[in-house]
Amino acid sequence: MDRRRPPRRTGRPHRAGVGGGRHGGGPGPAVRFAAREFDRIATATTLLAGRLDRIEGERADLVLRLVQVQEAERTALARDLHDAFGQSLAAAGALAMAIATAAPEDRPDLRADAEGIEAVIAAMRGNLRGALTQLELPDLAGIGLGGAVRGLVADWRARLRTGPALHLDLGGDLGTLPTETAAGLYRIAQELLTNALRHGQPRHVFLRVRRSETGPGSVTLIVDDDGGGEAARAADAPGRGLPGIRARLASLGGGLSLTDNGNGIRACATVPIPG
Ligand SMILES: Nc1ncnc2c1ncn2[C@@H]1O[C@H](COP(=O)(O)OP(=O)(O)O)[C@@H](O)[C@H]1O
Ligand SMILES: [Mg+2]
Repeated sequence: MDRRRPPRRTGRPHRAGVGGGRHGGGPGPAVRFAAREFDRIATATTLLAGRLDRIEGERADLVLRLVQVQEAERTALARDLHDAFGQSLAAAGALAMAIATAAPEDRPDLRADAEGIEAVIAAMRGNLRGALTQLELPDLAGIGLGGAVRGLVADWRARLRTGPALHLDLGGDLGTLPTETAAGLYRIAQELLTNALRHGQPRHVFLRVRRSETGPGSVTLIVDDDGGGEAARAADAPGRGLPGIRARLASLGGGLSLTDNGNGIRACATVPIPG
C-alpha cells in the first residue's frame, strides 16, 4: 500500500456547513448530517457526564464506608486486644511478683529473674495501653471534643518527651457538638498530628480547634507544622490518612485544605454546625 496516498474521503464533513451551503432552499444534506452528528456527540457527552457523576458518588460512598468499617474494626480490635492480653498480662505480672517475693534468701538469681519478667510485662502493658488509646474513641459525650483533644496531646507529649513541642489552642464551646462531628474531628486531629510528627521533622506543631458561633456555625481544626513538608506532594501522595479525612469531612458537609505555611504544612479542616 502506498503510505503517501492521501486518506480516502469518507464523505463526512470536517466542519459544520462546509460544502453544504447551497443558496436558498434550507440547509444542505451535509449541514443536516453535521447537526445530527453534534446531537449524537451532545447526547453521548451528557451520558458520560452522568456516568462520571455516578461513579464519583459511588467512590465517595465507598471511601466513607471504608472509614466506617475501619472505625468498627478499631473498636473490635481494641476490645479483643484488651480481653486477650490485658487480663493475661496483669495475671502474669502478679505471678512474677509473687515469685520474686517468695524467692528464698539463698536464691537471689530467682528473685532477679522474676523481677526482670515483671519489668518486661509492665512494658508490654504500657505498649498495650498506648495501642488501645490509639484505637479507641475517648468518651466524647463525657469529656467533649476539648477534653479528648487535650488527652490526645498529653499522650503525644508523654511519648515525645524531648521531641518537638506541641502547642494546643482550644476556643468556643466544644462540649456540645453532635457526636458524629466530635468523633470525626477527634480522628482527624489524631491523623493530622501523626502526619505532622511522623512524616516531617518539626520543632513545633500547633493544633488549634475553634468553634465559631457567629454567622453560620462551624468548627475549624488546624494543624500547622514546621517539619519541611510540601502540601502539594502530600495531597498527591498515595496514603489512606488524607483520603479518610476527606471522606469523613464530606460526610459531615465540611472540607480539608492543605497549604504550605513557609516552613511546613498547614492542614485546615472545617465542619459546619447547623444552628
Ligand atoms: N505534615 C506532613 N509533613 C510532611 N509530609 C506529610 C505531612 N502530611 C502528609 N505528608 C505526606 O503525605 C503522605 C500521605 O499522607 P496520608 O494520606 O496521611 O498517608 P500515610 O500517613 O498513611 O502515609 C504521607 O505519606 C507523607 O509523605
Ligand atoms: Mg497519615
